[in-house]
Amino acid sequence: MIEKLISYLNENKIGGFFIARPQNVRYMSGYTGEDSYLFITDTEKFFITDPRYTEQAQQECPDFTIVNWREHGKTLSDAIKSTIEKTSIKNFGFEGDFVTYNIYKELTFENKAEAVALNGIIENFRSIKTPEEIHNLRAACQIADRAFERIIKDIRVGVTEKELASNLSHYMVMEGADTKPYGNILISGKRTSLLHGIPSNKTIEYGDFVLMDYGCGYKGYLSDMTRTVVVGKATDKQKEVYALEKKMLEDSTAMMKAGTHATDVYNASVKAIKDTEYFKYHYNGIGHGIGLFVHEIPFMGPRSNEILKENNVITIEPGIYIPDWGGVRIEDQVLITSDGNEVLTSSVRDLIEL
Ligand code: GLY
Ligand code: MN
Ligand code: MN
Repeated sequence: MIEKLISYLNENKIGGFFIARPQNVRYMSGYTGEDSYLFITDTEKFFITDPRYTEQAQQECPDFTIVNWREHGKTLSDAIKSTIEKTSIKNFGFEGDFVTYNIYKELTFENKAEAVALNGIIENFRSIKTPEEIHNLRAACQIADRAFERIIKDIRVGVTEKELASNLSHYMVMEGADTKPYGNILISGKRTSLLHGIPSNKTIEYGDFVLMDYGCGYKGYLSDMTRTVVVGKATDKQKEVYALEKKMLEDSTAMMKAGTHATDVYNASVKAIKDTEYFKYHYNGIGHGIGLFVHEIPFMGPRSNEILKENNVITIEPGIYIPDWGGVRIEDQVLITSDGNEVLTSSVRDLIEL
């Protein structure tokens, strides 16, 4: 990946790249810790960190020159500035979307090289997954699937959303996930219309939808899936909305292959509800790339400019959200192949009545 970045910099006559976004630091260096920065030119690779992480950086990033900013200068900014001055470059890129104002000031103040904001360069590389990344993403999806098998046994009248959310995180770690959980959504009843609802102390009641939107990391690579179940017997309306949602998922997933425009996937997703009262309750954002971060390019929706590419890994998550009634989302994670796709999450998609 470093070679790809160097080629990009050379082609665009840019002398180096200062990298601050944690996922980009990891992608470029293999470093799994925090609070660290890279500065890369075509002849040098600096890894700028503090003493908490120097040993880890030496182990994980043997090809980098480790700069301990506490020894090097009074502040992180001093170290960044003098590291850049060690090179003979005339200009360098930085991630405009991620560099803080204070670091930006140091990058530009009395610095001999010009700082140029570059956005999305490494994110573009990251949107096409390598075989190793696909292996890790597949493992993260399988862990989430195994956790689903376990959590549905816990869902019953009287337990709280928070208890279930906590169990879900625990099951994923027990099934092999990285220890850091990330924002699982587990909501019930009328609260399921909240697109990003937070698990609460509400107890599960008979007849509730329970919506679980969750995932885990495996070696840093994330899964993201959603299943919605009913506690007890589903009502006719619950069955109707669920069936439409499932059709939306099936129609849109069937479109996903290399070369398809993301808007065509969106159009397929709304086919089932276009002429129904439910159209006004769908949400436009029907999927996103996923990897070291949960929401990555390509984003899919009616105004997307993206064309799906081989080895993108993308979620597909149409949904119907009816305020003060409830919502249904089913979300899968999909690997795009040259002639179709492979759905990496495999939990059952039929309506489960618990
Ligand atoms: N709930 C956010 C997502 O699945 O992307
Ligand atoms: Mn999700
Ligand atoms: Mn998602």
